[in-house]
Amino acid sequence: MSTTGQVIRCKAAVAWGPGRPLVIDDVEVAPPKAHEVRIKIVATSVCHTDWECLYGTRKGMKSRPFPLILGHEAAGVVESVGPEVTKFSPGDKVIPLFLPQCGECERCQSPKTNHCRRNWANTQMGVLADGTSRISCKGQQVFQFLGVSSFSQYTVVPDTSLAKIRSDAPLDKVCLLGCGVSTGYGAAVKTGKVEKNSVCAVFGLGAVGLAAVMGCQAAGAKRIIGVDINPDKFAKAVVFGATECVDPGDHSRPIQEVLAEMTGGGVDYALECVGSPAIMSAALESTIDAWGTCVIAGWTETEAMSVVVEKILMGRTLKGTYFGGWKSVQDVPNLVDDYMNNKLKLDEFITHTLLLDQINVAFDLLKSGKSIRTIISL
Ligand SMILES: NC(=O)c1ccc[n+]([C@@H]2O[C@H](COP(=O)([O-])OP(=O)(O)OC[C@H]3O[C@@H](n4cnc5c(N)ncnc54)[C@H](O)[C@@H]3O)[C@@H](O)[C@H]2O)c1
Ligand SMILES: [Zn+2]
Ligand SMILES: [Zn+2]
Repeated sequence: MSTTGQVIRCKAAVAWGPGRPLVIDDVEVAPPKAHEVRIKIVATSVCHTDWECLYGTRKGMKSRPFPLILGHEAAGVVESVGPEVTKFSPGDKVIPLFLPQCGECERCQSPKTNHCRRNWANTQMGVLADGTSRISCKGQQVFQFLGVSSFSQYTVVPDTSLAKIRSDAPLDKVCLLGCGVSTGYGAAVKTGKVEKNSVCAVFGLGAVGLAAVMGCQAAGAKRIIGVDINPDKFAKAVVFGATECVDPGDHSRPIQEVLAEMTGGGVDYALECVGSPAIMSAALESTIDAWGTCVIAGWTETEAMSVVVEKILMGRTLKGTYFGGWKSVQDVPNLVDDYMNNKLKLDEFITHTLLLDQINVAFDLLKSGKSIRTIISL
């Protein structure tokens, strides 16, 4: 029986408050409004940013209202489309996007940025264009994290926050392109523009960092130094192209001094994929003073990073990357193609596979450093 135009009742993992484990509840997902698409989420994974919003420095921030359905790294199938949707049809395979690409605004027209602001203020507050969410639970509105909410069997997203992908793409793999892998890979190849034969250091070897290692390798870097306080990550880093790995805990000196000595003055590119202001400063200072580039991919909202002016005066560049610099709607299908053509690894990021009702285990695995990515089947 067609569900088009009907409210869909399904399961979702609801965050009822900061610091509290998710609860599997029955939710109601309203039909899509104009320029919206309702999708059946087939697979999602847990990104560090989901953890951060629930348990980290961002928990309980005013801009993250509860109850909330987290999840923003996912893939699914279009169930129905709202009025005025022209680019999607039921049955299309899609990846929802926390970063839109409307294609019309000044930023979308510019090659200098991927940071489209369509619906931005609303989706940051957990609502869609009309200021409300499409999901409710027990009669109460449930906010949609970054306008996505993939920890629900169904969700509704703006049609400018959705990438249509090829029909033969395995959704339980390409879901990783919805955030972490695209971010890290793009941090190296797109934002950092890592050059052939360069020397790189990647701080933090979670999914974002490993993808950055993969990007450095794709760019032809001759040395890729993985840095992590958890040496269990090193074997995986080598799979993605790291030529050596360093545990800061093995050294009494600051890591930037260790890297400067290892490289005869500093690395050409440093990619911060931890989300710690102290590591961001260390990453910047680990680059060579005359031309080093530091790209910040890690995320923190509340803390400031300190930059000693002298450290950038000689010629270092400090950059940030959001979603790896990719223009989301147009570039994600190409990244899917790269995976299908064996130019980009995805399977190697997947360490666990669980069902939706085990989602709190996936959070624990990520935080304890035991997983890289856990795929949740819905
Ligand atoms: N910029 C973006 O668009 C974007 C997108 C996705 C994720 N992020 C951010 O990227 C970061 C990484 O995400 P992830 O999912 O890969 O996280 P993760 O938890 O899987 O990985 C983080 C890694 O950092 C390591 N680490 C922790 N402290 C360290 C230290 N002091 N020195 C070196 N390594 C250390 C951990 O051991 C772990 O391996 C997070 O801050 C996340 O919020 C940003
Ligand atoms: Zn735009
Ligand atoms: Zn993410």
